[in-house]
Amino acid sequence: MTEYLLETKGLRKTFGRLAAVAGVSLGLTEGTLAAVIGPNGAGKTTLINLLTGLLTPDTGTVRFKGEDITRVPSHGRVRRGLSRSFQIMNIFPNLTVRQNLLLPALSRRGRNLHAVARLEDETGANAEAEELLREIGLWDHRGARAGALSHGDQRLLELGIAVGTRPKLCFLDEPCAGMNPIERQTVLGLMRKLSGQRRTTFVIVEHDMDVVFSLAERIVVMNHGEVLADGTPAEIRENRVVRETYLGAEV
Ligand SMILES: Nc1ncnc2c1ncn2[C@@H]1O[C@H](COP(=O)(O)OP(=O)(O)OP(=O)(O)O)[C@@H](O)[C@H]1O
Ligand SMILES: [Mg+2]
Repeated sequence: MTEYLLETKGLRKTFGRLAAVAGVSLGLTEGTLAAVIGPNGAGKTTLINLLTGLLTPDTGTVRFKGEDITRVPSHGRVRRGLSRSFQIMNIFPNLTVRQNLLLPALSRRGRNLHAVARLEDETGANAEAEELLREIGLWDHRGARAGALSHGDQRLLELGIAVGTRPKLCFLDEPCAGMNPIERQTVLGLMRKLSGQRRTTFVIVEHDMDVVFSLAERIVVMNHGEVLADGTPAEIRENRVVRETYLGAEV
């Protein structure tokens, strides 16, 4: 039997009479770069919310490293090595860029923002935050207020916070939305690097098919809350039903 890093069985979430996620079963192996695609309203964000603990499913289970985490809240999942960025921005606009990146590094050491006052002691966290600043290309902006950054830079910062917790598994909801090509390359480069060096597993939700097909090793296609197809990029490209319902002439 394959040992999955993350495994869901029969995951279901309804809002009123709408089944946003209508029975999803998936297994994800460690180190994979996976993408979830599908039309607007397909249930992609709801699925990620169920997997990261923002929502509790009506039925079904989520297992992470063999442990049933279906009812574990988000912060408990982050502690276990599961992190995320949001489709909508999730940074601290009034902290500097550098302070934003200190947060995950401090949190990993069981510290919080109060520790910012005693930063001299936190050399390890400082070094980590600085490495991240360079990796996401925001070194020159490290002293700026995060809220004053351009949209693309704010998204890069958000990615930095998500990977700054050193997750085993990281969910990114539309990480490249609103980014210019250079920012997009920074995101993809960082994901490939962390996937290679730390065996970080990534699951991205993405509408840009260039990004999806250049990055993903595995693609899950959702439609009406269900998994319509699941396979390698080549398999998904060849899938007649996927082409008809979603991809069209795009790829
Ligand atoms: N909190 C909520 N309350 C009511 N309905 C919701 C809620 N969240 C999502 N939905 C509905 O569930 C369905 C799936 O939404 P979801 O946000 O998961 O889709 P998505 O695939 O992420 O779409 P997009 O590509 O537009 O981000 C949609 O019909 C949406 O309107
Ligand atoms: Mg969404």
